[in-house]
Amino acid sequence: MLTRDDVFSELGIGPVWRLRETPAAPCSSPLPDWDRLADAVARCTACKLHATRTQGVLGVGDHNADWLVIGEAPGADEDAQGEPFVGQAGKLLDAMLASIGLSRGDNVYITNVLKSRPPGNRNPEPDEVAACRPYLLAQIELIRPKLILALGRFAAQSLLDTDEAIARLRGRVHRFQNVPLVVTYHPAYLLRNLPDKARAWEDLCLARRTMQTL
Ligand code: URA
Repeated sequence: MLTRDDVFSELGIGPVWRLRETPAAPCSSPLPDWDRLADAVARCTACKLHATRTQGVLGVGDHNADWLVIGEAPGADEDAQGEPFVGQAGKLLDAMLASIGLSRGDNVYITNVLKSRPPGNRNPEPDEVAACRPYLLAQIELIRPKLILALGRFAAQSLLDTDEAIARLRGRVHRFQNVPLVVTYHPAYLLRNLPDKARAWEDLCLARRTMQTL
């Protein structure tokens, strides 16, 4: 597993030293910095997707969120606008969040496993996931979320490093980087498979119940 130092050296950004407020800690820990992270993603050429994307899409929302929502990769709308989940799937995601009393920007941060759009919305490839992983780890390091909601098969399988079917990954609490993680269906899938909305609702309830215990 990558350490924080590995992450920042892979990103090519040095640590920023900030004094902690508690006088008890004699030495402060290096913390990543949002501006540098955004800049690193904007300039990133670590995988072939940089050649075809319009822009990198880092994420959107509350930098101190308890909830971290992780999707697959930007689509055409997200690539054009520079924000995750702004198309039809994004509207459904907002409705899903609202159903458990959440909204993007307020105690929720939304990002993707990949920060660049795969051309033609093809599936992400393993080298692209590996190249993008330090950015996700840095985001988790900065946000320190209490719970991760993984949207869809691809996000769930790549975060949990498994090829188990989403049907088997739902309904229980996993961990990623020691953060509790709940799996649900991707909103784009739900737009095509309306009956599974009831299952997604169960997942959201599991996530909310889990959050209440943290
Ligand atoms: N699908 C995703 O997984 N992420 C987005 O940002 C948009 C659609």
